[in-house]
Amino acid sequence: MTERVLVSGSAGFIGGYLTAELLARGYEVVGIDDFSKYGPRQSAHDGNPAFSFVRGDAADAALMASLLADCDHFVAAAAMVGGISYFHAFPYDLLAANERITAASFDAAIRAHRDGRLRKVTYVSSSAVYESASDWPSREGQQLTVPPPRSAYGLQKLAGEYFARAAFEQYGLPFTIVRPFNCVGVGERKALRADRVSSGDVLLAMSHVVPDLVVKVLKGQDPLRILGSGSQLRHFTYGGDIARGIAAAMSHPRAAGEDFNLSATTGTTVLELARQVWAKIRGPDVPLRVEHDTPYPHDVQRRVPATGKARRILGFQATTTLDEMLDEVVGWVTEALAAGLL
Ligand SMILES: NC(=O)c1ccc[n+]([C@@H]2O[C@H](COP(=O)([O-])OP(=O)(O)OC[C@H]3O[C@@H](n4cnc5c(N)ncnc54)[C@H](O)[C@@H]3O)[C@@H](O)[C@H]2O)c1
Repeated sequence: MTERVLVSGSAGFIGGYLTAELLARGYEVVGIDDFSKYGPRQSAHDGNPAFSFVRGDAADAALMASLLADCDHFVAAAAMVGGISYFHAFPYDLLAANERITAASFDAAIRAHRDGRLRKVTYVSSSAVYESASDWPSREGQQLTVPPPRSAYGLQKLAGEYFARAAFEQYGLPFTIVRPFNCVGVGERKALRADRVSSGDVLLAMSHVVPDLVVKVLKGQDPLRILGSGSQLRHFTYGGDIARGIAAAMSHPRAAGEDFNLSATTGTTVLELARQVWAKIRGPDVPLRVEHDTPYPHDVQRRVPATGKARRILGFQATTTLDEMLDEVVGWVTEALAAGLL
C-alpha cells in the first residue's frame, strides 16, 4: 500500500520542496497550512492526484488527529518563522504560536500512533538550537551541553525536540529530529506580517540574507549594505537538498530516535556571499563597495555544523553549490520583483 505522509506547513518554503520530494519518491502527501505566512497561494502540486491539501490550523489538535488517523508518517514543519528581522519583531507571538502548534501536533501524533497506523513523527527543528555554542562544528548532542538559545525562536525549536523525546519516553511515539541549516531556494515570498525593514534605500521583505542581498543588488544599491561586519559564517544549504535529507530521515530504518544536522559542508561569510552575488549580477569587473547596517542582537556569528552523522547513517550529502543556488535565486527574485511578489 502507498504510504501516506502528513506535512504541516506544506505551503511554506521548506514545505514546498519537501512535498515535491515526497511525491517524487512515490508517497501520498496530505498538506496542511493556514496560509498565515504568505497568504493563500496555489501550489505546484495542486493537480497531482497523490497530493491533497487542507487549509487549517496546525494548532488544532482535533483536526490534526483526524488528518493523521490514516497517515504512516508525519513531518511537523509548520511554525511561525522568518528571517532575522521577523524573529526580532515577533518573539512573543512566535513563541506562543509555535508552542501551541507543537503541543497540538504531538497530542495528535500520540493518538494516531496509539489508535491508527502512524509510525513516526519527523520533527523539523533548526540549527538555532546551537545558537549559544562557542565551539564548532556543532555536533548532534551539543544542544544539551551548551547554554540554551537566547532567542525565543531558538528556545522554542529546542522545546519542540523535548516534546519529541518526551512523547517517546511516555507514550512510545517514535521520532526523528532534523535540523536544517540556512535554507536557500526559491518560493519564499513576502510575509504578510513582516514589518518591512529598510537597508539604506531598499525595503526588504524577508530578511533571509541570500534573497535580501540579491534584491538589493538587483535594485542597484551601491555601496551594498550588509548587516554587521559581514564576518558572520553560514552554511547555505539548498532547499531541495534539505528536502532530500528530511525524506531520508523520515524513512530510514536507522533514523528512529536520532537527530540529524542537514547542511552543506562548506561555510561562507556574509561578505563573501555579497561578493558572489555582486559578481553574478553586476559582473566581476565592477568593484564591490559595502556599508554596514547595525546588526541584530541575536545575529549569531558562527553557525557551523558537523555533517558526518547524516552522511554515515542516512547517506545524505547536500551537493548543490552556492553558485548553483545563486543562479536559481537570482532568476526567481528577478521574476518575483517584476510580478510584485517581493
Ligand atoms: N528556512 C530555514 O532556513 C530553516 C532552517 C531551520 C529550520 N527551519 C524550520 O523549517 C520549518 C519550515 O520553515 P520555512 O523556512 O519553510 O518557513 P515558512 O514560513 O516558509 O513555512 C512555514 C509554513 O507554516 C505555516 N504555518 C504557520 N503557522 C501555522 C499554523 N498554525 N497552522 C498551519 N500552518 C501554519 C505558514 O503559513 C508557512 O506556510 C519551520 O519549522 C522552521 O522552524 C527553517
